[in-house]
Amino acid sequence: MLALTQSVGTALRASLGGLATPLGSLAALGLRGAATEAGATPPAKPVVEKEFLVYRWNPDSAEPPKYDSYKVDINACGPMMLDVLLKIKDEQDQTLSLRRSCREGICGSCAMNMDGTNGLACLTKVDRDASKVTRIAPLPHMFVVKDLVVDMANFYAQYKHIQPYLQTTKPKPDGKEFLQTKEDRAKLDGLYECILCACCSTSCPSYWWNADKYLGPAVLLAAYRWIIDSRDDFTAERIRQVNDQYKLYRCHTIMNCATVCPKGLNPGKAIAKIKQIVETGKEH
Ligand code: SF4
Ligand code: F3S
Ligand code: FES
Repeated sequence: MLALTQSVGTALRASLGGLATPLGSLAALGLRGAATEAGATPPAKPVVEKEFLVYRWNPDSAEPPKYDSYKVDINACGPMMLDVLLKIKDEQDQTLSLRRSCREGICGSCAMNMDGTNGLACLTKVDRDASKVTRIAPLPHMFVVKDLVVDMANFYAQYKHIQPYLQTTKPKPDGKEFLQTKEDRAKLDGLYECILCACCSTSCPSYWWNADKYLGPAVLLAAYRWIIDSRDDFTAERIRQVNDQYKLYRCHTIMNCATVCPKGLNPGKAIAKIKQIVETGKEH
């Protein structure tokens, strides 16, 4: 995707550079607005340098973890934390490691802790107050692979454990697909949108202390999504599988999970619903 974006950008730049009458050609491309007025280059924005402290740790070095300081002109940079990190990587330190792909809150790979709060770097705006230092760290209580990259193996193993896919015993009624009523489909809203970024699980104190046994909010939200799917025939097995003092009942309704979710989901509520089903046998 990155390569595709770059090649489209390069092609656009190449085509603009090769045009004899740039303004007319920009208009032809529908890009007129910014460049037309008097044909003048807009005045340069003043330099606003802001300090960013970025967590650094290299497994191949004997040095302990530390925060490195970088000064970035936030007027010469995109508005999001990911823009700052990529500018640092491009212009100041290419050894900085971080994950990112979509840069629009879809892939979930740029999750990290910024000024004490978990979030997606591509959706988190830079604090424009240059007098304040911004601190960027990996997701809390996770093993660090390098710098801002954390080991997601346990998280993914837990996700795999809840068998996050449709399981049925009956053949497809029309031989093609399993249908759902609009009402049953609507029950999955607020659940299916999860992008597995792990911001919620790594903000949950219960998960910090028992990540080996407690499934955590992200995985339990996914479990609930399959428990209530009208097309699935393994509801009872799914409930039995998560009904455990550690896997489920380490949730103490702290609700950090719902506060940080960048997609606006509420894993704490989904967990409460699973407990309700376990304890009453009913969904409502
Ligand atoms: Fe990320 Fe929200 Fe899904 Fe948790 S529930 S993994 S915070 S998208
Ligand atoms: Fe943790 Fe959310 Fe429960 S923060 S304790 S999973 S409500
Ligand atoms: Fe994909 Fe941020 S880069 S969610």
